[in-house]
Amino acid sequence: MQFSSPLKANSIKVMLLGSGELGKEVIISLQRLGMEVIAVDRYENAPGHQVAHRAYSIDMTNAAALEQLIQKEKPTLVVPEIEAINTKLLEKLEADNVTKVIPNVRAVQLTMNREGIRKLAAEDLKIPTSPYAFARSSDELKEAVNKVGLPCFIKPTMSSSGKGQSRIESMDDVERAWDYAANSGRVNEGVVIAEGQIDFDYEITLLTVRSLNSEGNIITSYCEPIGHRQEDGDYVESWQPQPMNEKALATSKDIAEKVTSALGGLGLFGVELFIKEDQVWFSEVSPRPHDTGMVTMITQKQSEFELHAKAILGLPVNTSLANPGASAVIYGGHDCDAISFENIPKAIAGDGVDIRLFGKPQSFKKRRMGVILAHADDIQQARNKAQQARSQIKTKPV
Ligand SMILES: Nc1ncnc2c1ncn2[C@@H]1O[C@H](COP(=O)(O)OP(=O)(O)OP(=O)(O)O)[C@@H](O)[C@H]1O
Ligand SMILES: [Mg+2]
Repeated sequence: MQFSSPLKANSIKVMLLGSGELGKEVIISLQRLGMEVIAVDRYENAPGHQVAHRAYSIDMTNAAALEQLIQKEKPTLVVPEIEAINTKLLEKLEADNVTKVIPNVRAVQLTMNREGIRKLAAEDLKIPTSPYAFARSSDELKEAVNKVGLPCFIKPTMSSSGKGQSRIESMDDVERAWDYAANSGRVNEGVVIAEGQIDFDYEITLLTVRSLNSEGNIITSYCEPIGHRQEDGDYVESWQPQPMNEKALATSKDIAEKVTSALGGLGLFGVELFIKEDQVWFSEVSPRPHDTGMVTMITQKQSEFELHAKAILGLPVNTSLANPGASAVIYGGHDCDAISFENIPKAIAGDGVDIRLFGKPQSFKKRRMGVILAHADDIQQARNKAQQARSQIKTKPV
């Protein structure tokens, strides 16, 4: 790739499809490398819109609208940041050499649908996963639950951040879980997955990077494992490095290598794994930075966003940890047009405590509006600091 300056005839243009808090940070990393960046989201003034050269609001599931924009901008690279995208169109544009999709269209298609990635991991690659079955009606779901056992998780095959997901303990809950899942997937395909519950000791995100070495060959490198805690299928707290026994870590890296090399392309992947003693189960993977990886903004020499930006541009990466740290999510707490954040100066006054506010134009009770970051000598201190800082911040409707 030939590096230059943005807004020139020979600029490298990168288009982000999805410009939330993760996209915003990728854009900032790209801007630091002299890229011309185009941010796209479904609503105006999304976080990434505010830091890009140009911003567009379109429905990215709409093929005509997406095609018109990509043909107009002719980006060198298209970087999907969300799952609700018309990938059939991306497939066509990539085949016609209009643009190049990161990490590649097939990886984006396989990972946007739980059915695709689950079958790849469990059936093709023979990697351990929870028992699972798919269902297209509430009757089929009853059969599926019988097959995987109780308790289990019911999820739309197209969803993220816990949307439409429920954990059930009894057959009596199947009907409700079906309705909830079938109605709230981001792109409703009417297919849900039942997954038997894995009784794990802890869960991790293993950020895995496929980048070019100096000989131009693709190499795989790993960040230190990130531990996290989820509430209602959404991440509320993460820390790095999660302590792990040697065998479980080696198995985790082996699984991450298998899954990411089967997906292919360049970039950072968030590989989600469940761990019990030496045993590791694959859960899912994002072919892009991961929300739990926001902690790397305070723990690593190069954050997951910088790693993604560098890897997709063919640059060398450094995944090393600088110091232990933690992140804690700040929710909007109110459904309203605008909120204020109270008490920030006091909350982040402590040594090693920091904050990111994403700049989202509207608040919902459970909308992620910002994150506290903290570093310390060990993860327990870092978690305590992050939790304490977060609890001091109050959100108020304006
Ligand atoms: N089969 C399972 N066994 C045990 N716990 C599970 C299982 N499936 C999901 N969970 C719990 O629910 C969380 C969210 O599940 P999952 O990652 O599949 O959903 P998601 O909607 O993709 O969430 P996100 O987008 O935040 O990753 C997991 O991190 C885990 O804590
Ligand atoms: Mg997940």
